Amino acid sequence: MEQYVIRGGRELYGSVPISGAKNAALGILPGVILCRGTCRIENLPQISDVANMLEILSSMGAQIRYLNKNTVEINSAHVKNLPTPYEVVRKLRASYYLIGALLGRFGHAEVALPGGCDFGFRPIDQHIKGFEALGATVSITDGGIVEAHTEDGVVGAEIFLDVVSVGATMNIMLAAAMARGTTVIENAAREPHIVDLANFLNTCGADITGAGTDVIKIRGVEELHGCTYSIIPDQIEAGTYLTLAAAAGGEVTVTGVIPKHLESITAKLSEMGAEIIEHDESVTVRRPRDRRLRRINIKTQPYPGFPTDMQPQFAVLLALADGTSILTEGIYDNRYKYVNELRRMGANATVDGRIAVFEGVERLSPAPVRATDLRAGAALIMAALAADGTSTIDEVRYVERGYEDIIKKLRAIGADVKCIEQYEATKALG
Ligand code: EPU
Repeated sequence: MEQYVIRGGRELYGSVPISGAKNAALGILPGVILCRGTCRIENLPQISDVANMLEILSSMGAQIRYLNKNTVEINSAHVKNLPTPYEVVRKLRASYYLIGALLGRFGHAEVALPGGCDFGFRPIDQHIKGFEALGATVSITDGGIVEAHTEDGVVGAEIFLDVVSVGATMNIMLAAAMARGTTVIENAAREPHIVDLANFLNTCGADITGAGTDVIKIRGVEELHGCTYSIIPDQIEAGTYLTLAAAAGGEVTVTGVIPKHLESITAKLSEMGAEIIEHDESVTVRRPRDRRLRRINIKTQPYPGFPTDMQPQFAVLLALADGTSILTEGIYDNRYKYVNELRRMGANATVDGRIAVFEGVERLSPAPVRATDLRAGAALIMAALAADGTSTIDEVRYVERGYEDIIKKLRAIGADVKCIEQYEATKALG
């Protein structure tokens, strides 16, 4: 098993090119199932979630050809609509998009319930409500397989989501793109990856309007064709590197980004006293290591609010800020498992349900810690970079689900980090 060994306590300087958005890629790749002809997907992040999704598509009969490390061509002409087993889909939550895509193409789907990061109960009732509104009969078998069947294909419908859900919004878009008639999703999620999926489907011939607002209209079309499509930059990866530089100190620029997508994150960094400089396609953060960050309160919300996927990373800043900060998790019941690990590094934090309170400390101290999920892993890397001394981080496979070339990118801004097998790590710590 691999570990990261990080020697922290130094400022970081330089620039980080941002990869394609994980959560856009994970909706667009299943979307390819709907298309006749070949789709060329560019700016695909090389991360394990994408590799797993491609493996699932390949096992279903899609022909996949890598043109370079971030570009694939996929032809789904020979995809078979066979039940997708749990061993395959458990690796990533986004495998639930196969239900919408298969339902849209074949009128029926059988997919095991998804896995993904454990943040407490993560129901898919809104996805099911959407599929049922589109005319499907949906059941979940004792073995945890979601079966969705229509008699004669999906039919457009008006759907009001009871909770703002990224997954349900994207799944309904996939299922409805080739429906008979028009579908309207109300109270839709507005994240940048929703817009990216709509843009991809429209490039393939779909007729989707309103993505990015809370009402999305999908006029069903007869068929979708192949296309060439480039995925948007990853808002959360960019936010992570900005936050990480603010924690360690220094001056770091994230390049190839859409600054508008980062506004809720950069606004909070500014509020804490970090300097933010925005350019057309890049954003710079600057903070001298000896200047303390200011305390703030944060509540996570659906886009354009502050993203839950940046909550653990900001917790590290709050742990170091001058004064008492309150963090409120507005999306998930249980996304604070990593706080125990942060405490081992000297953070003074208490958690009560969805609220975490941080009494800022001047310095975090190095420790051996363990990633509990993807963004928690990113937060622990940040904490290790901010702490003076050597920390080790276990379970980095979580981090590699969502951050392309993280070691290379960190080293390029001057971080002292290496990835080693666990037995070597024990030796390294003496
Ligand atoms: N919810 C329901 N019923 C549903 C669907 C969702 O009650 O049918 C609830 C969830 O339990 C949660 C809230 O609605 O409390 C929002 O969930 P959402 O459906 O928006 O989340 P998701 O689609 O499962 C995606 C990202 C997550 C990200 C969330 C929120 C992917 C593959 N995953 O999950 O990304 O946290 O949206 O923005 O797109 C990550 O990248 O680290 C990650 C966890």
